[in-house]
This record gives sequence, structure tokens and C-alpha cells, in this order.
Amino acid sequence: MTTLAILTAAGSGSRLGRDLPKALVELGGLPLLLHAARRLAASGVVDALVVTSPPGLVDVVRGLVAADPHVEVPVRVVEGGATRQASVAIGLGLASPADDVVLVHDAARPLVPVTLVRRVVDAVRAGHGAVVPGLAVTDTVKQVEPGPGPELVVGTPERSVLRAVQTPQGFDRTLLERAHTTGAARAVAEHLAATDDAGLVEALGEPVHVVRGDEAAFKITTERDLRLAELVLQDQA
Ligand code: CTP
Ligand code: MG
Repeated sequence: MTTLAILTAAGSGSRLGRDLPKALVELGGLPLLLHAARRLAASGVVDALVVTSPPGLVDVVRGLVAADPHVEVPVRVVEGGATRQASVAIGLGLASPADDVVLVHDAARPLVPVTLVRRVVDAVRAGHGAVVPGLAVTDTVKQVEPGPGPELVVGTPERSVLRAVQTPQGFDRTLLERAHTTGAARAVAEHLAATDDAGLVEALGEPVHVVRGDEAAFKITTERDLRLAELVLQDQA
């Protein structure tokens, strides 16, 4: 039985605001998606990769990955969809029956440690159908009624039970397929779409478990995150 990793890299990176898609932006001279692909491959627990490419860039992404000697697992590249959820669904369409475990990882989290990849896969192989890495939240979180002015606070969830979740998220393949099939109508637009795959599993009423995340797996959204990633990369060297 094999583990397939879907590397989501099809987003535009609008909040980063560069003139190329975020997954192709360089960190330490290497595109974000190659950092992530190398780490997934180096984990030793991923047998094959599917990368979701930004529109029109399938050949560019395929060329980048094919030319990288550090990505030592088979890689397929497909054009992603309009939302992250749609991109994952497209990638999942390339899974084979032998892939009993599927990981979903964001290229926007390029510095994911191999130990985290292994922790997630281990937990799925130990019998948990849906596993997400999570970190304790340090800020107090308020729920509000969103609006233009000062927003009304409607609740303060008890902080000790909150987790900020990351990727890779790991799944029993058949469970993830069922989650995406059932939730497919949400994939068409960003305001409807699930922001993570575990959310689609929760919507089925199926259990999702959290394993310990890793600060190095933080997501690059803004220029500030990219600068922070340069520092973390230097630290890891
Ligand atoms: N992603 C994807 N397909 C989409 C949208 C996003 O594969 N249609 C991927 C991104 O490439 C990224 C991950 O999902 O690796 C997480 O998304 P996010 O951080 O929001 O990236 P972007 O959508 O590119 O950024 P922004 O929302 O700022 O435009
Ligand atoms: Mg996005």
C-alpha cells in the first residue's frame, strides 16, 4: 500500500502580490513548491506526488520538478482549479486504488519538517482516518459579527481547547474521496469552499484527530512571512 501526496500549488498568491504565482516565488533561491516537494520526498513515507499547477503553467512546473534531483519520487503535474478545494479534488482524481493514504500539503508551507510529515502519516497508518497537525493558540481569539466598523464580539472560545491547524493533513483515501464528493458543490467559489480538507471530513460527521504541529510549517501569506521564512531557512541550514 502506498501514500500519495497532493501538493497544492495552483494559487495566485494575491496577498503576496508578486507578478508570479506564490508557489513559484523563490525562497533562498528555490521556488516554494520545490522546497515543499523535496521535503515530502525526503520524508521517506511518501511514494508519489501530484502537484496542482497554476493555470497555464503545467509545463513550467513539470520542468522545474523534473529538473530537481532532490525530488526522488514519481511526480505528476495537473492544472489546479478555481479554489484550493477544487485543486485538491482534481489531484485526488489521480490517486490509484493502491494509494490507501493521501496527504494534502500546501506549497505555501515550504519549510515543513520531515518529522511532521512522518508524524501525520504514522497517525493515519495507526488507524485514524483523518489527521491534522495543530499548534496551541497563543492569542486570545474572539468571534465577532463581521462588519465595516468596530465589530461586535459575540464570543470568546476557551483558548486551551483551540488549535491552529497546518498541513500536511493525512487521510484514508476512501474517506477523503467521500468528503470531496459530498462537499463538491462548495468547490466552485472561495467564499463557499472549505479552507482545509479536514473540514470536509468533519462535515460528513467523521472524526478528525490532531497531532502536534511544528512552527516551521507556518504558511507564507505575506511578504513578512517570506522574510521570516528566509530566517528560518538560514537557521535550519
Ligand atoms: N491553492 C491551489 N489552488 C487554488 C488556490 C490555492 O492549489 N485555486 C493552493 C496554493 O497554491 C497554496 C495553498 O493552496 O499552496 C494554500 O492557499 P493560499 O495560502 O491561500 O495561497 P493562494 O491562494 O495562492 O494565496 P492568496 O489567497 O493570497 O491568493
Ligand atoms: Mg488563497
